[in-house]
Amino acid sequence: MNKKMNLLSFCPLSLILITIFCLINPAFSRGGEYTFDIPGRRLLDDYPDKPSIDLTRGYMSNADLENAIMAFGERCSNISRVYSIGRSVNGFPLWVIEISDNPGREEPEPAFKFIGNVHGDEPVGRELLIRLANWLCDNHVTDPLAKLIVKNVHLHLLPSMNPDGYALRKRGNAKNVDLNRDFPDQFFAMNDLEDIRQPETKAIMRWSQRIQFTASASLHGGALVANYPWDGTQNKKREYYASPDDEAFRLLASVYSHSHYNMSMSKDFPGGITNGAAWYPIYGGMQDWNYIHAGCFELTLEISDNKWPNATELSTIWEYNRMSMLNVVATTVKTGVHGRIFSSDTGRPLPASIKIKGINQTVNAGRLFADYHRLLLPGVKYQVTASTPGYKSKTTTIFLEEEATTADFILEPETTNVGQILDTGCHCSGNNRNRLEVGDILAHPQMEVSLVVVVALAFILLLYRRKLCFSLPKHRQIAGSKRPTVV
Ligand SMILES: *[C@@H]1O[C@H](CO)[C@@H](O)[C@H](O)[C@H]1NC(C)=O
Ligand SMILES: *[C@@H]1O[C@H](CO)[C@@H](O)[C@H](O)[C@H]1NC(C)=O
Ligand SMILES: [Zn+2]
Repeated sequence: MNKKMNLLSFCPLSLILITIFCLINPAFSRGGEYTFDIPGRRLLDDYPDKPSIDLTRGYMSNADLENAIMAFGERCSNISRVYSIGRSVNGFPLWVIEISDNPGREEPEPAFKFIGNVHGDEPVGRELLIRLANWLCDNHVTDPLAKLIVKNVHLHLLPSMNPDGYALRKRGNAKNVDLNRDFPDQFFAMNDLEDIRQPETKAIMRWSQRIQFTASASLHGGALVANYPWDGTQNKKREYYASPDDEAFRLLASVYSHSHYNMSMSKDFPGGITNGAAWYPIYGGMQDWNYIHAGCFELTLEISDNKWPNATELSTIWEYNRMSMLNVVATTVKTGVHGRIFSSDTGRPLPASIKIKGINQTVNAGRLFADYHRLLLPGVKYQVTASTPGYKSKTTTIFLEEEATTADFILEPETTNVGQILDTGCHCSGNNRNRLEVGDILAHPQMEVSLVVVVALAFILLLYRRKLCFSLPKHRQIAGSKRPTVV
């Protein structure tokens, strides 16, 4: 669109800087070992005691960032909320901006998180996340993609996971720990002791257990590529090591690289994406932990060859990444299979788990609304199974077209012990927000009645759908996968 304009806005000095940094091996941002014989990195990594003023000019300090987050929260209070997930070693709050049409309220929608500045000396991400928040605030009424995100996603932005490292202009946190090596690992017994884990890491882990993120991305610098799991291999060899969801990850990473100004044109990485272990294996990383322990599809995005580019380039880098950031968030809504799970006896949401035949990974439904959001590939047929202890599992076959598909499940109890089932089905005593939501839909004040009506409606819809399929085979072929399924 305005690529030419952006190119022209580069000053010659920036071009020279970029050229210099292009010569540097890209493998340092997720954190290859420090190699001190690489020119150009010394300034950033080896001399934190002699910070270059030029380096920070135009970048927000931690205090500036905090002010920018608070100012955003006030300016856009109708679609956002600001909260903290903990504090850094030096006591700086880890501020998060949540963007949604119902910020702070749980809804049956996917949640996405962006994490910037994991490495203190990679500050571009924190600047881009503030820009992303403000752009969404300014455009969500008019721009369809911004509108879709605000309406259908809960987007959480943590501009800086490592404010102490940023202040010291170094990779690790105040204790010199690389936060992207501080998570429990699937292959090796490391970082398993909670009391020696860094507070920044602990905060991310608690956060991921409190909010069920469908997908996420952390922002790094030092290369230009979208990196996906696994990051490590069992044998420590550098080789492609596919996760159970390799195809979905490749899709998500490609959405980023192909929406980017030129990431997909990379010479080092075909399509601008890479399997982490095929690039260089790391252990204790945040990305693999998210997928394994939080069921969250996380990417590690390297968004600029230069870790700390001149601040005059930030606007251009933002423009290069804007569509990527929007599209990768929107992917959690626009593709895959989504739905809710109810129990047949009470009609209440049943937080069951979802498995796909042939993919050894479980995605759990949300605790309150029992909504699930599962990334899958368009153009593929899948068998989706919902199951939870005490209920009979159900399986349905879906064929995904370009758009997302809905499949709701109504599970029947295994036993006739009603009292026991009620206990299992309702995790919401003293909190009837989920029932309120059902009541809202029907505009019916009496919630108990509404629940019965909803179950009845679901069955009627199911019958109606079957009838439609029977009498209108052509129609079904066209719109088939987009029509909601109730199983
Ligand atoms: C992308 O564009 C930037 C700015 O023009 C340039 O420095 C970089 O080398 C390009 N990268 C690729 C992979 O084309
Ligand atoms: C599925 O994954 C789990 C670990 O998440 C592993 O223990 C198990 O062996 C895997 N099953 C298959 C069939 O690969
Ligand atoms: Zn990094």
